[in-house]
Amino acid sequence: KTSMKKTLLTIFAVSALSLSACGGGGTEDNAANNEGTDTEKKVLNVGTEATFPPFEFMDKGEVTGFDVDLLNAVAEEAGYEVKIDNTGWDAMFAGLQSEQLDLGMAGITITDERIESYDFSDPYFESKTMVVFKEGVTIEKADDLKGKKLGVQNGTTGQFAAEAVVGQNSPDISKYETAALMFQALQSDNVEAVVTDIAVALEYQKNNPDSGLKTMSDDEEFQSEYYGIAFPKGSELTEEFDAALDTVLDNGTYAEIYQKWFGEEPNVDALKE
Ligand code: ARG
Repeated sequence: KTSMKKTLLTIFAVSALSLSACGGGGTEDNAANNEGTDTEKKVLNVGTEATFPPFEFMDKGEVTGFDVDLLNAVAEEAGYEVKIDNTGWDAMFAGLQSEQLDLGMAGITITDERIESYDFSDPYFESKTMVVFKEGVTIEKADDLKGKKLGVQNGTTGQFAAEAVVGQNSPDISKYETAALMFQALQSDNVEAVVTDIAVALEYQKNNPDSGLKTMSDDEEFQSEYYGIAFPKGSELTEEFDAALDTVLDNGTYAEIYQKWFGEEPNVDALKE
C-alpha cells in the first residue's frame, strides 16, 4: 500500500516537474514540499553535560532525560532533527561560541552574564539552588555553608550561589568538571556539602536512599532561576525554537514529558509568565 502511494507521489512529482519545465513555473518547490514525511530534515548538533539526572544522563550509551525528550519534541515541532553529544560543560559553551554546535541543552540557567555571550530560548523549567549533605552535618540556612568544605560543578550557578555566601575564590570551595564528580566527592567525604540544582539534588537523594543524604534550600538566599536552550549569539534558531516550545507547552506535550520524569503536573502558566 505504501509503495503504491510512493509511486503515485513520484508520478505526481515527475509530472509537476515536467509541467514546470514546459514553462508552468513555480510548482517545482511545492511538489518537493508536498512529499512531506520523506523530506530530509536538517540535523542540528547539540552539546550537553550528561551527568545531570533527571535532565540528562547516559543510559546504555545514549544521552537520555527530561531535556532530551523535551528537545526532541521541540525540534520536531520546529522541523529539525537533533544529534546530541555529551561534550561536557565547558566544551559545550566553547562549541556554541565557535558555532560548531547549533545549540546547548543541559539544564542551563539563563543568567544575565550568559545572555551577553549566548542567545536563549524562553524558559522551559524553573529551578533554584539546593544544598546536599550527609547526616551529621548541620546546615539549616545558607549562612551555615560558611566554614564548610563545599563541592560545586565548575562554572555553574551552584558555584555562584556558594561563592555569594562564602566568598569568591574561597579555598573551601572545590570545583568539579561534572555533576557526577561533584556528588562522588560528597560520597567519599572529600567535601561536606554540594551546592547544585533542586531537581538534581532531589533525584540524587532518591537514587541513593542508603547514603542518609539531607537537603536544604534557603528561600531568602536562593532565588528562582530558569533553564533555557542556549544558541550561538544571533542564531536564527532561537525564534523558531521559541515558537515550537510555545506549541509544545500549549498542546500538552510538555506536560506529558514532565509527568514522565517528575511524576506530577507542571505549572505551565507560571512558566509562561
Ligand atoms: N543550572 C545550572 C547552571 O546553569 C547547572 C547546570 C548543570 N548542567 C549539567 N548538565 N551539568 O549553571
